[in-house]
Amino acid sequence: MSTLTNLDLQNIPRHVAFIMDGNGRWAKNKGQHRLFGHAAGVESVKEVIKTARELGVAYLTMYAFSTENWARPSDEVEGLMNLLVDAIANEVDEMHANGVRLLTIGDIKGLPGNCYQSLLEAMERTKDNTALTLVLALNYSARKEILNAAIATHKKLLSGELSLDDINDTEFSKLLDTKDIPDPELLVRTSGECRISNFLLWQLSYTELLFTDTHWPDFRRKAFIDAIAAYQKRERRFGMVSEQIQTTK
Ligand code: FPP
Repeated sequence: MSTLTNLDLQNIPRHVAFIMDGNGRWAKNKGQHRLFGHAAGVESVKEVIKTARELGVAYLTMYAFSTENWARPSDEVEGLMNLLVDAIANEVDEMHANGVRLLTIGDIKGLPGNCYQSLLEAMERTKDNTALTLVLALNYSARKEILNAAIATHKKLLSGELSLDDINDTEFSKLLDTKDIPDPELLVRTSGECRISNFLLWQLSYTELLFTDTHWPDFRRKAFIDAIAAYQKRERRFGMVSEQIQTTK
């Protein structure tokens, strides 16, 4: 067991979000089909969940399927959906035994029926768990999420449930898919790309962004611990100056 000594256990991020990129390149480097990479990516998800529990990270959000991912070849889309159903079937008992609560963000009604059903069942079964919340972003688009919240705001204004004076960051956040989830302190994107790709655009306003060259299937316990160590070296100023941060510590 390595590198825990590098960490300040009093400063573990409460919520870490992941853009799990690089499964396809990882597989290609090994002369394998892209789905082989996605299957290896599921193993990384499992190891990151285990490590998060060990460290006391309370929320993990994983970008598993974006609205744009439907444009991939149909065999890859189908393979990803099957992987998801299999992963839930294989892992839900252990997740439940370990106190993991499953949530989703995105339009899961737009997923294949068996996928939707297995997600609903897993969410219902794990809903009272408190050790860790795993949020899967599925059929997710941050722009769509924000537009939906804008439309919901408009409807509340029309019905009189809200007045213009009531609308602020806090009220708007309550209309997002993430309404009961704190904003992430840390976002990790694997595999060398430095972009957000329509993920959590509202929620990442003050999040520390970390980009690593490691492909997602290679992102395991040590890489996660290293990412948190790098986060702990950052100074989060929230628009203030360094001296102000020092005095509030
Ligand atoms: C991006 O890599 C990865 C995805 C679009 C899918 C991520 C999904 C998993 C890791 C499986 C999820 C399963 C569960 C249970 C959460 P890419 O295919 O874009 O890689 P590339 O950029 O190298 O082609």
